[in-house]
Amino acid sequence: MSPLMTVERATKHYKTQTGSVHALENLNLEIEKGEFICILGPSGCGKSTLLWAMSGLHELTSGQVVLNGTPVTSPRPEIGMIFQEANLLPWRNLEQNILFPFEIKKIDPAPAQPRIKRLLEEVGLAGFENKFPRELSGGMQQRASIVRCLSYDPEVILMDEPFGALDAFTRDEMNLLIQRLWMETGKTIIFVTHNVSEAIFLADRVVVLTPRPGRLAHIFPVDLPRPRTIEMTFEPDFIRSVIEIKRTIETGVYTPQAAD
Ligand SMILES: Nc1ncnc2c1ncn2[C@@H]1O[C@H](COP(=O)(O)OP(=O)(O)O)[C@@H](O)[C@H]1O
Ligand SMILES: [Mg+2]
Repeated sequence: MSPLMTVERATKHYKTQTGSVHALENLNLEIEKGEFICILGPSGCGKSTLLWAMSGLHELTSGQVVLNGTPVTSPRPEIGMIFQEANLLPWRNLEQNILFPFEIKKIDPAPAQPRIKRLLEEVGLAGFENKFPRELSGGMQQRASIVRCLSYDPEVILMDEPFGALDAFTRDEMNLLIQRLWMETGKTIIFVTHNVSEAIFLADRVVVLTPRPGRLAHIFPVDLPRPRTIEMTFEPDFIRSVIEIKRTIETGVYTPQAAD
C-alpha cells in the first residue's frame, strides 16, 4: 500500500533582509493513513516550516509534499490545521466561531451540524455554544479550535504545538482527549511539539529533526499499547525512551542506549 502522504526532499531557504535562512534540508518522510506522527526537534529547526509546507500554505524552495497521489501546492479541504493559539474571534460566540470556516469557504454547514453537536459533547463543550472566547479557559478555547477543525471532517490534521501554552494538567487532559478522538475517528495526525513525553505518549512514530537546517535525525517507533494512560509516562521504559530521544535532539544523532 502506498503511503497517504509523503514529504519528498523537502528543502526550504527563507530570504530575509540580512541574508538567507536555511530552514529545512532534503527531508523525506512517509506517513501511513491513520498514523499518529509526532515531530520533535530543537527550537528553530524547521518544524513549523515543515508543517506549513504540508498544509499547502507555504511553498518549499525545492522538493514536494504529496497527499493521495497529488502534490500539495495550496490549502486542501482534506487537510485541517490547529495552532498553539486557539485563534477564536473575540466578537463571535463559540458556535459562530466553529461555523466561521464554513462561511469563509461558502459551504452549507447544515450537513455538518450533527457532527458538530457530537464533537461539542465529546470535548465537553455542549451547553457552551453561546459563550464568548473571553468566558472560556485556555483549555476550553483549544477544545473549541479542535471542534472547528474536525467540523468539516479533514482526513489529515496538522497540529503545531497545540498544547504548548497550557498548564501541565490541562495538557494531560488535552492529550487524553486527542488520543480518544484519534482512536475514534481514524484520522491521520501530524503533531509538532517540543515536549518529549507528550510526543511519546501520543505517537505511533516520533520523528526527530536535527538542529537547523532540519534534517531527519531518527524515527522512533513507539509500541506502547493503547489507550495510553498518564501513569504510563512514569514507567521506567517510558523514561528510558524520553532520555534516548532527548539525547538525539541535543546531539542531532541517534546512539542506541546500552541496556542496563
Ligand atoms: N517567514 C520567515 N522568514 C524568515 N525566516 C523564517 C521565517 N519563518 C521561519 N524562519 C526561520 O526559519 C527557521 C525555522 O523556523 P521554524 O520552522 O519556525 O522552526 P521551529 O518551528 O522548529 O521552531 C528559524 O531560524 C526561523 O527564524
Ligand atoms: Mg514552531
